[in-house]
Amino acid sequence: MAPIALADTLSKEMAGVKTKPLATVSEVSAIEGIQTALAAAQARFENANPNSKNQHDRAVKSLPGGNTRSLLHTSPFPLSMKSGKGPYVFDEDDHKYLDFVGELTAGIYGHSHPVIREAILSTFDNVGLNLGSTTVQEERHASLMCERFNVDSIRFTNSGTEATTHALAAARRFTGRRKVVVFNGGYHGAVFSFGSGIAQNNVDLDDWVLARYNDIASARTAIEGTSGLAAVLVEGMQGAGGCIPATKDFMLAVQESAKKAGAVFILDEVMTSRLAPGGLQSILGLKPDMTTLGKYLGGGFAFGAFGGRADVMSVYDPRNKDSLAHSGTFNNNTMTMHVGHAGLSKILTPEVNIEFNAMGDAFLEKLRTITKGTKCCFTGRGAILAVHFTPTGAQDINCVDEVEEDLELKDLFWFEMLEKGYWITRRGSIALILGTPQEELDRFVRCVEDFLDRHRSIVVTTA
Ligand SMILES: Cc1ncc(COP(=O)(O)O)c(C=O)c1O
Repeated sequence: MAPIALADTLSKEMAGVKTKPLATVSEVSAIEGIQTALAAAQARFENANPNSKNQHDRAVKSLPGGNTRSLLHTSPFPLSMKSGKGPYVFDEDDHKYLDFVGELTAGIYGHSHPVIREAILSTFDNVGLNLGSTTVQEERHASLMCERFNVDSIRFTNSGTEATTHALAAARRFTGRRKVVVFNGGYHGAVFSFGSGIAQNNVDLDDWVLARYNDIASARTAIEGTSGLAAVLVEGMQGAGGCIPATKDFMLAVQESAKKAGAVFILDEVMTSRLAPGGLQSILGLKPDMTTLGKYLGGGFAFGAFGGRADVMSVYDPRNKDSLAHSGTFNNNTMTMHVGHAGLSKILTPEVNIEFNAMGDAFLEKLRTITKGTKCCFTGRGAILAVHFTPTGAQDINCVDEVEEDLELKDLFWFEMLEKGYWITRRGSIALILGTPQEELDRFVRCVEDFLDRHRSIVVTTA
């Protein structure tokens, strides 16, 4: 088909001389089709959500962009949620949604689990807040987590970001070195994010060596070729990076190389620990030197943890002269310790965990089947998944730099799934909640099928 010039977006790029190859006629009409559908969907969104719009107008007066958590900003304005019940959330305009955001994996227990409620009330009534001392409960939660996640000892923090910070500090003290190998697409907390480069908000820009995710040769070169390497920090599935699972071979090679280089192998399980009773490491057959944890393990309260080999963790043993300090007013907060422990011991038992993730795997499989031959694909593992829209619709994505997302199609999908009653992150991630009705998952599969059918002309693959 003969290439032709494009209106609007592409013509701007063409004015800048060296750009993408010219689009074909069918590509042009697809782009126009997406833009028309997107404009209509956005208009319906604005009409349906006046209270969220008003709330956003108020919020911009005291919060930059009306926001205190960048991920939650969506254009033209974010939906403001009023409440949640079970696996559902309700917005300020009284729409009901099935909660697929699942607080980015932290919300696994849903919004009103009776066990969580009971733990909160009994902690408040019988224990109290902020005792300013060590407590029995922190030891209970620590020993259960050591057992589940196969670590010798553990320390608590207030977030996954802090867990990363202190795990790195431990690795640096233990090895007496500074550099850290990380992977593109990796996210390890607010100041530890790596897209195709080192994020500007990193605190120590010079200390990072970036390797390619799921690329054994790149990992080996970076790990074994960097002098002064303290640690290798990696996720077994990149969560924020788009639910991109690592291959087992890749992870085993990273572990082996780290060992060879005398670096501490830190596995970030902040998101992935819920994929199996012993975390993703138990599925992949890994034995990291250190593991970072967080999210749901605080039962819905601010939480993080890092644990690992006794000799590495002992750098924090305050009985030792020259030990590293690790402080945090809320590290052993009574509410977090009691409620986190109740969730893990009474709700997310190993049996429940296995069944829950099997449900997620089956859901993912259905979505992968119905999206074949379209630009839409779903990636993930167990009850954590993500939707992508790419020109080829490749079903398996190994690394963020392999795909260029069609963000307009993704936006269109987001607007239309909201209209069907599904609350999903704008970037497309889905973290299932325990107790999500199977009928809602089946209905979602039908909604995706319907979306692909209605927009067939713009979602068929061009490659
Ligand atoms: C893999 C991973 N590590 C670390 C973090 C940081 O956790 P937090 O948001 O609790 O600081 C996140 C958060 O999403 C994460 O996904």
